[in-house]
Amino acid sequence: MIKPKFITLEGMDGAGKSTHIANIIAILQSRGHEVVSTREPGGTGLGERLREILLHENMHAETETLLMFAARREHIATVIQPALARGAYVLSDRFTDATYAYQSGAKGVSIKKIELLEQWVQGDLQPDATLLFDVPVEVSLARLAGARAPDKFERENADFFNKIRRAYLQRAKDNPARFSVIDANRSLAEVTVSIENILSTL
Ligand code: TYD
Repeated sequence: MIKPKFITLEGMDGAGKSTHIANIIAILQSRGHEVVSTREPGGTGLGERLREILLHENMHAETETLLMFAARREHIATVIQPALARGAYVLSDRFTDATYAYQSGAKGVSIKKIELLEQWVQGDLQPDATLLFDVPVEVSLARLAGARAPDKFERENADFFNKIRRAYLQRAKDNPARFSVIDANRSLAEVTVSIENILSTL
């Protein structure tokens, strides 16, 4: 039997990952896998309530980090682990790399503290593969300018987004076996081909 895989999607707001989720699900399903598609913060009833608070209320960056991991604990216990245990693939729109990028990279929470929470909440659980949608900050900001009402993160400035991008690329550099960096500043068709190539190796 093929080992179930835990796949995560990451990238700055406006990098376009949401656009590709349906296609990724379809590719995995076409290979006969059950696919559980989920997201963070969120993915559970409690997690979605925490998401509302996280995306719309200002708070200390460490409070934000703790709430992200509280939502994540529930998500792992009630969605991710049961799905992997029954042999399903799990596709999560964001996971812990986002906490490293946003709460540490952009907001300055210490990496050590995030590592402690990661160890506590995840134990040995890590994504098998992470697709990082990468675009220059100007592209991300231009895409967001045309989007629906921005949440608190999407209202941040270029400096904030630059820090996120740098932190994500550093995560990719530090975890080369797990990460695939996708140049998302290309046509949808070109990005789709890259995604298909990456998935064919999983
Ligand atoms: P996002 O995934 O971009 O959803 P949508 O496409 O609906 O806007 O929004 C989630 C936001 O949460 C995003 O701005 C990044 C932020 N976030 C963190 O700051 N830390 C985290 O650990 C996670 C999972 C998300």
